[in-house]
Amino acid sequence: MKIKMKRFLIVLCLILTALIVFGLTRTEETVPEYVFSYAENQEADYPTTLAGQYFADLVEQKTNGRIKILIQHSGERGNESQVIQQLKYGGVDFARISISELTNEMKALTVLQLPYLYESSEHMWKILDGEIGDYFLDVVSEYDMVGLSWYDAGARSFYTKDKPIKKLEDISGLKIRVQESNMMASMVEYLGGEPVKEPYSEVYSLLEKSEVDGAENNWPSYETMQHYEVAGYYTLDEHIRIPELQICSKHTWEKLSKEDQQIILACAKESAVYQRELWKEQEMKSQELAVSAGTEVVELSLVEKVKFKTAVEPLYERYCGEYMELIQQIRQIKKD
Ligand code: GCU
Repeated sequence: MKIKMKRFLIVLCLILTALIVFGLTRTEETVPEYVFSYAENQEADYPTTLAGQYFADLVEQKTNGRIKILIQHSGERGNESQVIQQLKYGGVDFARISISELTNEMKALTVLQLPYLYESSEHMWKILDGEIGDYFLDVVSEYDMVGLSWYDAGARSFYTKDKPIKKLEDISGLKIRVQESNMMASMVEYLGGEPVKEPYSEVYSLLEKSEVDGAENNWPSYETMQHYEVAGYYTLDEHIRIPELQICSKHTWEKLSKEDQQIILACAKESAVYQRELWKEQEMKSQELAVSAGTEVVELSLVEKVKFKTAVEPLYERYCGEYMELIQQIRQIKKD
């Protein structure tokens, strides 16, 4: 009897200890110290969204659940210019943004998205992963925001509704949707078109209603937003590469300890490596899907490509005149 009682008490103690330990750790894990928002204007399964989720999971894991980041995708927090406004006062804590939308204010960033600046994706990554990329992350910090890491958005090309762009003159007079960026609007003007600044979410309907004749974007955006259904000619002019940025509101950033800031930065960088892998796969997949759905791909001749390049060359001086030395350096790096 005595032995049975002793056993019973031991088992009871073990159960109570397990309940206490489990209870304590559970409370620690399930009640985060911070719950942050993260704005993303792409759909749930787009490479930037998946990498954003990867970032959020890493942060949660590395802080033992103290910091939770909720990904609000598909433009739930508004279009990019609205998100930028909210980032300024901490209405949105984190976001993934195309830098185009930041350049009206952060003029220096325009350098990184000048048309035909990079010779290839590898060239762009050499710049962004190096000192120049870090320099521009610091530029962002001057504007109530903290730049965390660069994401890939490939090369953008023009696509049209009624007739293909086969040569420079074909753009003449065409209404082309552009991002809300002065430089992007000027670019279309220099190429002979008429820019229409509208948010990303509006492009499908603008094309469908023939309020624009065309737009320009990378393969994944063209395909996942179903633009190919309403603009079936995709001209491979690859006129621009626009890096994307993972960004944090300075208001949010300053709430965090130095240690947490370091964790977030490291997780952002890790997610960027993952995003680049996803991007490469998605670029190919989207091109294949669009082509199999009937998109006609137009290759530009070398002569025409030179004409495109020459037409946009004045943008360098007009928007980035004070950075010509840096631009020279960027162009030089590809030759190393
Ligand atoms: C890309 C980019 C978006 C951006 C869009 C645009 O798809 O990833 O962030 O909004 O271009 O053309 O506006």
